[in-house]
This record gives sequence, structure tokens and C-alpha cells, in this order.
Amino acid sequence: MEIEHAQKLWQPQPGWLNTATYGLPPDPAWEALQEALAGWRVGRMAWESWDIATARTRAAFARLAGVAVGDVAVGSTASQLVAPVAAALPAGATVVVPEVEFTSNLFPWLVQEQRGVRVRTVPLAGLVDAIDAGTDLVAFSLVQSSDGTVAPYEEIVAAARAHDALVAVDATQACGWLPFDASRADAVVVAAYKWLMAPRGVALAYYAPELRDRMRPDAACWYAGADPHAAYYGPPLRLAEDARRFDISPAWFSWVGAAPALELLAEIGVPAVQAHDVALANRFLTGLGRPPGDSAIVTVEVPGAQEKLERAGVRAAVRAGRVRASFHLYSTTDDVDLALDALAG
Ligand SMILES: Cc1ncc(COP(=O)(O)O)c(C=O)c1O
Repeated sequence: MEIEHAQKLWQPQPGWLNTATYGLPPDPAWEALQEALAGWRVGRMAWESWDIATARTRAAFARLAGVAVGDVAVGSTASQLVAPVAAALPAGATVVVPEVEFTSNLFPWLVQEQRGVRVRTVPLAGLVDAIDAGTDLVAFSLVQSSDGTVAPYEEIVAAARAHDALVAVDATQACGWLPFDASRADAVVVAAYKWLMAPRGVALAYYAPELRDRMRPDAACWYAGADPHAAYYGPPLRLAEDARRFDISPAWFSWVGAAPALELLAEIGVPAVQAHDVALANRFLTGLGRPPGDSAIVTVEVPGAQEKLERAGVRAAVRAGRVRASFHLYSTTDDVDLALDALAG
């Protein structure tokens, strides 16, 4: 489906330049969610009918990330899916993380310091060089939440492999607009409420089979059972063999809203979304006299940005005088120009 055609499936108020905070649902996602809520209100629907969306979302994510569906676990937050990877590290292991990393991919490593895991934070620009013989795992965001920097994925993986280090990626700010091969890493976590345009409460992880053998499903639940319907009561422990053993019972309605959004993205294709998003980001940058970049998330310093954008009804993130603007497939040149006019004013 062409982006121009697909855009008719969204109803954004002009000036939403903040997908890096949360993405907007396409109509099929919104409508599926309303139907589920209406069924819930009167008790018309069985939970199994909502749960079909979890399997659909898992399959669409596997397609988007280029991995086998059996290697994908579901949960509610990115940090929660990083946790079992961090817990699997032996005492004395060293983790290298960029220093301005979003804390969902930092705190889960830092809490392990109390049992002797060491965490080294380094500037992102020096991450590749910081990976050495003493590194056991490198953790980083594929796209930085703070400023949209795209990490040199291939170089990081190559450095890690050269030193037998594991690779854990937070692709929350990347998956949905940046094509990447998750199977190059050992673990990839994604919170789906941004670029995958799902409701909050949907997160997915790719866990490589060899890594899973070293991980313990501390949050084991009936839903992670080999047959969830035969895992309601009593022993023995009977978890799924594949990545589903790490599943956390799904927040049903969030998944109902997620499935149509991910399926639509897979149908449109991430390379087309990347071209669209980055072109808009670059129209914004060049309109402000900045050089173009390679990301759907950009930051610029403009005096008085907060008031100027607010006055024009443009919603972007402004932190310490810096505007963080992000552009996704429902964003248009009109949105960009609205922001440029506001900032020029
Ligand atoms: C890079 C990154 N990871 C994760 C999250 C959200 O994490 P969680 O699902 O743990 O709240 C965000 C939210 O801004 C983010 O930018």
C-alpha cells in the first residue's frame, strides 16, 4: 500500500510531531479497540477472541524484525523484557552502555550491580571502541530517544562478536521506521506504543535461542505454558519450549489495538516508511538552516521554541530549549511547514 493512500487511515490533528513519545493509531486499530471495549462492557465476548490479536501481533513483529515467530516473547514494557537478560549475566560480568541511554535499557543492568555485575557507561560515539576483551554484553538503543542518533548497529555487532560479547538492543525508537535485522543481536526489545502505533501495554522481544538457554523465566505464568489452556492449575511446571516461555500475560485490549497497526506497517513496508519519515525530518532541518540527517527524530535548539510551538498548536517535545521533533507515516509536509512557520515567528 502506498503511503499516500495509507495516510487516509489516520485522523491526526495537524501538528503532531511527537511519535517519539507516542504514536497514533490507524483507524483499523482504533475500531478494533472500540469493538473490544464495547464487548467487554456487556460481557459479550470471550477473552480468547481478544487474545487472537496477541498471536497476530507477535507474527507481524517477527516479520518486521526478520526473525522466527518462535523467538519472540510478549510483555508490557521494554524494561520488563530487558530484565531476564540482565538477570542471566553471571556475577562479575561487564556490561557496556551508552551514557545518555534511556533508562529502560540502563536501570535493568544497573540493578544487577548489587550482585556483582559491572556497568560501564561510555559516550555513544565511543561505544564501538569501548567494546573489548573485558566486555560480556553491550546494550544500546538502535535509535537514541534523546536526539534520534542512529547507532552503528553493524559495527557494534562486529566488535561484540570479535570479543565474544552478547548484544542487547532496545529498538523502541527504531522498529517501525528503521529497517534492521534483529537476528544479528542476541536480544532486541521494543515497546510498541511509539513507532508501532499500538496502545501502551504492548512490548515484544526477540531472544536468540542460545541466549534463552541461559535465561530463567522468573515471571513464569500460565500464559507461558506449553498449552496455556492446560496450565491453569497446579504443578508441574510446564512452560513452552520456545520464546513463549518468557511471555507475560497480555493486557488484552492493548494487543487488540496493536495487531492492525503492526499488520498495516508490515504491508506498507518499513523501507517506504523510512523514506517518508526521514524526508520530512530533513525538510524540517533544512527549513531551519541545518544539514539533513538520517533519522526520523531530530533535535534543534531554537530560542523560545516552547511558546512558539504552543501558540501554533504544534506538539513536539521541548527539553531545556531543545526541540525534539519526530515524523511518522501520518505526518505531512503541512505539519512540517506549520512547525517551521511557528519557529520562524
Ligand atoms: C528507547 C526507549 N526505550 C524504552 C522506552 C519505554 O520503556 P518502557 O516500556 O520500559 O516504559 C522508551 C520511552 O520513551 C524509549 O525511548
